[in-house]
Amino acid sequence: MANRWKNDLTWDDVTPEKAFLNRRQIIAGMAGVAAGAIAGPAFADKLEPNSYEDITSYNNFYEFGTGKDDPKRYAGALTTKPWSIEIDGMVDRPGTYSFDQITSGMTIEERIYRFRCVEAWSMVVPWNGFELSDLLNRVGVQSGARYVAFETAYRPDEMRGVAFPVLDWPYREGLRLDEAMHPLTIMATGLYGRPMPNQNGAPIRLVVPWKYGFKSIKSIVRITLTADQPPTSWNMSNAREYGFYSNVNPEVDHPRWSQATERRIGGGLFAKRQPTLMFNGYEREVASLYRGMDLTKFY
Ligand code: MTE
Repeated sequence: MANRWKNDLTWDDVTPEKAFLNRRQIIAGMAGVAAGAIAGPAFADKLEPNSYEDITSYNNFYEFGTGKDDPKRYAGALTTKPWSIEIDGMVDRPGTYSFDQITSGMTIEERIYRFRCVEAWSMVVPWNGFELSDLLNRVGVQSGARYVAFETAYRPDEMRGVAFPVLDWPYREGLRLDEAMHPLTIMATGLYGRPMPNQNGAPIRLVVPWKYGFKSIKSIVRITLTADQPPTSWNMSNAREYGFYSNVNPEVDHPRWSQATERRIGGGLFAKRQPTLMFNGYEREVASLYRGMDLTKFY
């Protein structure tokens, strides 16, 4: 795919609709669809991806410390080759799959997604990855499965942060099956066309763009299909502050701060805060998943 992260990029170039169309074009081998035919984006602003430097220097990866610069300093200690993921639970073909087995034959696409952290800052990241649904379909999801649980590696020898009980290790996250199968949900293996930096979750991590960043679990070693809602690290540590769903929602404040606005990383200290959008701007794509649910209760 062309270098869509070049400086002339505008937000019109990075709508998920366009990503879908690109994917369809690749799959069907169709001629290009004119950009003018695409409905206008939900985003009013014209954002450009953050710099590689921003994206790889300001991180949350508590296994390496709680400071924003700890992951860049210490995540290099994580051995990412070889890597494998155990896929188990309610699947037809459970097993331990190597990174190469998982990625072989997958269409690795670029997806430029807005990323909104629960701490009320945001970035725009050009990820490279494949749809999680492609992986789940390969292993065969059994009919009783309703949730997907994820686990990060737990390596006390390589992760200096796990010596501290900030969270109940290993880091755990979960999605409802329909969220996991949604085409916006990807397994990312890189960014800016390069392999995933350790601080961003090498060699493979989840990215769910309509949820707060902590749902996007890094350095995944286990994926389990379950009938029941799985426990998740942040919810276990503080259920009042971090719900299972954690959809970006400007109308539901975190108990200790507002979620109505956000500070874009890289905008400078005095940059104006911008309004946070429902489902992080992906409302048109995902709102139907939550129809009829009280999102103040299921936060
Ligand atoms: N995954 C693991 N294993 N450990 C973590 O501490 N932090 C989460 C999420 N995934 C985290 C994690 C949080 S709070 C955020 S905001 C994002 O990773 C940050 O991703 P980034 O550093 O690539 O921007």
